[in-house]
Amino acid sequence: MEFIKVTEQYQPAIALIQLNRPKELNALNKQLMEEVRDTLQLLDKNDAVRVIIITGDERAFAAGADIKQMADKSAIDMLLIDQFSTWDQIRKTKKPIIAAVSGFALGGGCEFAMMCDMIIASETAKFGQPEIKIGTIPGAGGTQRLTKAVGKAKAMELILTGRFLSAEEAHFYGLVNKVVPVEMYLHETVELAKEIASMSPVAVQLAKEAINRSFETQLDEGLAFERKNFYLTFASADQKEGMNAFIEKRKPTFSGR
Ligand code: CAA
Repeated sequence: MEFIKVTEQYQPAIALIQLNRPKELNALNKQLMEEVRDTLQLLDKNDAVRVIIITGDERAFAAGADIKQMADKSAIDMLLIDQFSTWDQIRKTKKPIIAAVSGFALGGGCEFAMMCDMIIASETAKFGQPEIKIGTIPGAGGTQRLTKAVGKAKAMELILTGRFLSAEEAHFYGLVNKVVPVEMYLHETVELAKEIASMSPVAVQLAKEAINRSFETQLDEGLAFERKNFYLTFASADQKEGMNAFIEKRKPTFSGR
């Protein structure tokens, strides 16, 4: 892997993907996103991994799609390069993904963080969709996910002016789960990951799938989907273990089956 570093730690069952183009503020070129996609597909199949963390470095999570790679392209070039099909595949990851964000999360960087399931931010994090300042608009979900996260008025302001949102504001608007001092953001993310990794991975996967369904469907259909996933957990050894452990007043051990 040229543009990412991957660390897998099986006790607890967490994998960390670090975006690694520091000189370019982790600008997301095509190869970097393909490396992330390929790694996530492997991690999704690896039973020893239950939660995935994606991070950058202290200065930047990612400052957007790689402007230098796109600048001279035509619309048809962009259509044929079809860079966002890689993003669509990333979106299909079944295991929970937490973004640990410090510094810039701009344009595609903000969209990438929002595509993750949760975000832990350092106090220095800055979120934004500044594409308008370079004569274009978000292309990897910014107009949709930011609007769903912060509401129409704030999304309009951010996307039409390119202004940045501080970590504190991002927390106020519900874009991020928690804001912590910069020296703590990775530690805090690992703590959250550990807690989730101690749950039944089957239940975690089914819950993630049901939550994401709420963005796609009307309530009736979403409730029916949730109910089927709820019933499905009763086919797992983990549901029996979890409920028996509760009754026997002991800590459950989830096998992932
Ligand atoms: N693409 C390519 N290179 C980038 C980049 C990007 N998105 N963001 C930063 N870089 C590069 C810079 O060109 C610079 O490289 P050189 O040293 O070779 O000149 C290096 O990273 C450091 O950047 P700066 O010198 O600009 O650092 P700064 O601290 O002065 O400013 C910044 C930081 C405000 C983040 C500024 O770099 C910036 O505005 N970056 C662009 C942000 C942006 O517009 N993002 C949206 C991209 S389009 C997109 O993402 C579309 C989509 O929806 C998918």
